[in-house]
This record gives sequence, C-alpha cells and structure tokens, in this order.
Amino acid sequence: MCGIVGYIGPRPAQDVLLSGLSKLEYRGYDSAGVAVWNDGDFQLEKSVGRLAVLSDRLEAQPLVGNQGIGHTRWATHGRPSDANAHPHADCSSAFVVVHNGIIENYMQLREELTASGHTFASETDTEVVAHLLEEKWTGDLFSTVLQVLQVVRGAYALGIMAKAEPGKLIAVRKHSPLIIGLGDGENFIASDIPAVLEYTRDVYILEEGELAVLTRDGVACFDLEGHPVHFEPLRVTWDAVAAERGGYPHFMLKEIHEQPKAVRDTLSGRLSEDGLSVCLPELPWSVEQAKQIDRIHIVACGTSYHAGLVGKVAIETLARIPVDVEIASEYRYRNPIVTDQTLIVVISQSGETADTLAALRKAKASGNRVLAITNVVGSSVAREADDVIITWAGPEISVASTKAYTTQLVALYLFAAYVGALRSAVDPGTVAQLVKDLATMPEKLEEVLDTAPLIEQIANEFSAWNDAFFLGRGLDYSVALEGALKYKEISYIHAEAYPAGELKHGTLALITEGVPVVAMVTQDALYEKSLSNIKEVKARDAHVLALAWAGDAEIAKSVDRVLYVPRTVSFLAPLMLIAPLQLLAYYASVARGNDVDKPRNLAKSVTVE
Ligand code: AGP
Repeated sequence: MCGIVGYIGPRPAQDVLLSGLSKLEYRGYDSAGVAVWNDGDFQLEKSVGRLAVLSDRLEAQPLVGNQGIGHTRWATHGRPSDANAHPHADCSSAFVVVHNGIIENYMQLREELTASGHTFASETDTEVVAHLLEEKWTGDLFSTVLQVLQVVRGAYALGIMAKAEPGKLIAVRKHSPLIIGLGDGENFIASDIPAVLEYTRDVYILEEGELAVLTRDGVACFDLEGHPVHFEPLRVTWDAVAAERGGYPHFMLKEIHEQPKAVRDTLSGRLSEDGLSVCLPELPWSVEQAKQIDRIHIVACGTSYHAGLVGKVAIETLARIPVDVEIASEYRYRNPIVTDQTLIVVISQSGETADTLAALRKAKASGNRVLAITNVVGSSVAREADDVIITWAGPEISVASTKAYTTQLVALYLFAAYVGALRSAVDPGTVAQLVKDLATMPEKLEEVLDTAPLIEQIANEFSAWNDAFFLGRGLDYSVALEGALKYKEISYIHAEAYPAGELKHGTLALITEGVPVVAMVTQDALYEKSLSNIKEVKARDAHVLALAWAGDAEIAKSVDRVLYVPRTVSFLAPLMLIAPLQLLAYYASVARGNDVDKPRNLAKSVTVE
C-alpha cells in the first residue's frame, strides 16, 4: 500500500509531485522518491524516511522538468531504504516505474531476468517491471507495456515513463486504485483524488484492468489487450480544504471532533420526514428479498471489524437474522457455510483493503449478494458490491480510524432497522423510537466531546503505565475492543479488551496495584453484573475509570473516576462511548510524544495481504 503520483504539463513537475505525495502519505511513509524528465534524461531523487526528508533534499537541489512520477512507500518487499524507494529503473535507465501493490511472481521473473544479464539495484518486486520493459522493448512504449503486463501476476497500479518517448506517461490499474486527473494542457495520475484536487476537479477513476496513456493534451484509455475504451470523467464536488487539518494539531483530533457532523451527514436523508421509519433509497429491496435472507456474514478488518460486532447485535435484535462477524483475512481462506440466501456485508472505510476485497470477491464468486458499507465513493469495494451504503464521514486521513467507525455504526443501525421493518421482525413503535434516538446523536456527541479536557488529564496519568485494560459486557465489550485497539495503535501501550465476566478465567492475574482499567457500564440489563466485575479489579487495587451514563451516582462509589456520557438507550451506547475512548488514546499518544497521525509500522489503507 503505497501512494503514486504522476504529472505531465507546463508546471514544475517536482512541485506537483511533492504536493500530491503529501496528500498520499497516509498510504505509506517509510520512504519516498520522484523521477523528473529533463533534457533527454531522467533525474531521480529517493530517500528513506518521511516525505519531508525528500522535500528537504529537493529544495537544496531541485529537479527541473515538467513531467515526472513520484511515490511514497510502505514496505512489502525489501526494508525501507534509499535503494528500495521508488521510482525504479532498468539497467540502462531507459524506463522509470512507480508501483503500488505486489508483483506475485517477481522471484521467478527476477531469476529469469538476472539469467539474461539484468542487474538489480533493489530488493523490491517492482524493479522487475522496469527490467521487463527493457527486456521486451519493441520500440514503442504502449505495446511494450502490454507485453510486460502479460507476464506479471499480482496487484498493481503503475506509473511508467520511457526515455525513448518523452511527453508520455502510462498508467495501469489492476487490483490497486488509480485515478487520472484531467487538466487543461496538463494531466495527472494518483492513487487517490485529494492528490490532484489542487489542480483539477475532473477525474476519472480507472476501472480494473485499464491502462491510460497521458500526454499534456489528452488522455486515452485502453483495456489490457490494447483496445480503446470510452471513459467518462466525473467532477469532484467535495472540498480539498476538508482534507486539511483545519487548525487542529493532528488529523486524528480533527476527525474525532468531526463526528457530530459525520453522524448527521450519514443520517441525512435516511430518517423519514414523519420520523417513523428508516429509508435507504440505495437499497430498494422488496419485502420478499429481505425475508429470504437466512444469515448474514459481516466481513471486515480492524476497526471496521469492530463496527461489525456492534452490527451483529443491531441486526440480530431488530431484524432477527443470525449474524456471524468474521475477520476478512481469515474468511477469505475459510470454507464458510453459506446458502444462496446468505447476505455478505463487507465493511471498509477505504473500500480498498485487500483482504476485505478478496472476501467480497469470494462471496461474489459463490453467487452471494454483497452489501458494502464504505466511506469512499468509487472505491473498489463500492464498485464491486451489489449494494452500497456510503458512510458520509468525509475524508479520513489519520491512520487511526475514528469518524469512519462511528458512521459505520450509524449505517449498521440504519440497515438493521430497515431490514427488520421489511421483514416485520420489529414493531413500528421500536423503529420510530430508534429514529428519534438516532436523530439526537449528533448533539449528544457534541456534549461528549466537551469532556475532552478531563480525558486529557486522565490520559496524561495513564500514559505513564505500560498496560491498560478495557472491560465491558455485551455491547460495552464490543466497544472495549475498539477502545483497546485505538489505545495500542497510537500510544504503543499494551492494551487488552475483555468481556468483564471473563477476567477471572485468567486475565485477572495481570491486574496489579494502580494499573489503569477502563470499565464501560452502559448496558442497563447487565449493570449489576458489570459492577461486580469492577469490584473484582478494585479488590486487586487497579485504578478504575468508569464510562457511565450521566446521572449514575452509584458507580462513583465503586471506582476511582467516572466519565459521564449523555443518557441514551443501552442499544445505542457504542455511539456515546467511542469518542471518550478515542480521546483517551489520542491524549496518551500525545503525552508519549508519538506521531499520532502516522503510528509506526502502520498505513492507512492496507491494500496488500
Ligand atoms: C484502525 O484505526 C485502523 N486504521 C485499521 O484497523 C482499519 O480499520 C483497517 O485496516 C480496515 O480498514 P478499512 O476500514 O479501510 O477496510
């Protein structure tokens, strides 16, 4: 999962490439590089480390030219190093290539190419593409690229330039995202739309198995056999500024604070005007269709998987359909029991997560209907699913997912109520009440966010510890899992989530004096049980922070601290609990001096297995 950009036009290419790469750093940031065409040759500059290191080098010694490609890397094959950074070139530097994805048969290709005299300068899979171009050169870049694509296997988005054909840039997409930005006398390629928005709002999202030839004056698209294909650009209406930090010190904090709006936007147009029902115009299902569903498999990774766990409870409660929630990287290699009537729901913020996409394809191949819940219109998941519910969270830049999770929950509650009503599995009064409660969520979330200063204070204390435990029962446990993931992901503190009743079966041994325990107590039906579990950890001298409903005076007697959240029904508690947990993780990370938005070893969009 890397980010690629390309430019051809009248501007200084270096500036366009660096600006584009800065918008793509969320895709990887262990090294970066650019190649710029000038005066009959390619000039390359690459460097391990953040993009800033490359920018400093280029500022000191700029690359002059109006055509180039650039890359920001998240290492798969070969450790982060100058040599492994892209772009890669062939032996005679006649071709330069940037790549996002994995060339699966690169070992074999590398051996063959080495045997025929090619010398490799890096450990990457990508470099074989540059040498293959050299090996198969026909005297024409387009036909050579087509020949090379016949021998490489795997997932790739490629940007390619050739010395013999200045004024031309080739882009290829197969299982890795790539877009074309269409300008006036200039054109762009990029892994994601924000990278070109500064220059153009007209974009074309390359389809699977498409190749584009860019010159200053135009773009032509082809399939991988070289037949021309017609393409329709789309006009991006959202604001580039929305992708900027807007005064917050980190994207994560900005995105946490955007949650009331994100929830409002995701609800917008989906609650009926009379306030009695849920409408999902994007799912024009018949009653019969809804009734036929015999089981649902929710498949996702990471935070999206955690949203799925809440979705299971929502769907089983309101629609009375049995739901299994599965981790995509496991599901894709299992032989799950499905019937023709099993619905597969994939959840993915980015819509590009490789394992989730593979699970989607597996489900489609077995003839199952797939519903995608995703935040990115035009993403692979959105394009390949039968039905799509978009979460209108807006661009999520921080690697740690926040507003995407919250809006996924909203989408899942809406979906559960919608299908439940179609199946007559839930009485209309319950749906009407849910609609009413959901409508109050944005305001309540604003109240939750007002507690940030108190959370910061607690996080400062907790950050001195090397462990933290997150406990809950029922839906509180599902949120505890996400709270623990957030905490470890950005603070690098060991964090574990446990169903509160399970502690005494082993984990209680880890509870020592003063260790931070965050206990969620919002499931009314399980209140007494949760309280008993809290007493168990208190008896071992843990420091307990409870997350409880406003007005719960009782809880304060049993814990060290309480963070109150506005009252709603227990069923919707995850929407109230998650922001305090995100803030706790955020401030713990800041207290430890970590790079909040770009935690070590991680990338925003995991487009490799
Ligand atoms: C969590 O904060 C993560 N960044 C990660 O777990 C993420 O949710 C996961 O990689 C799935 O991504 P997706 O929703 O884009 O598919």
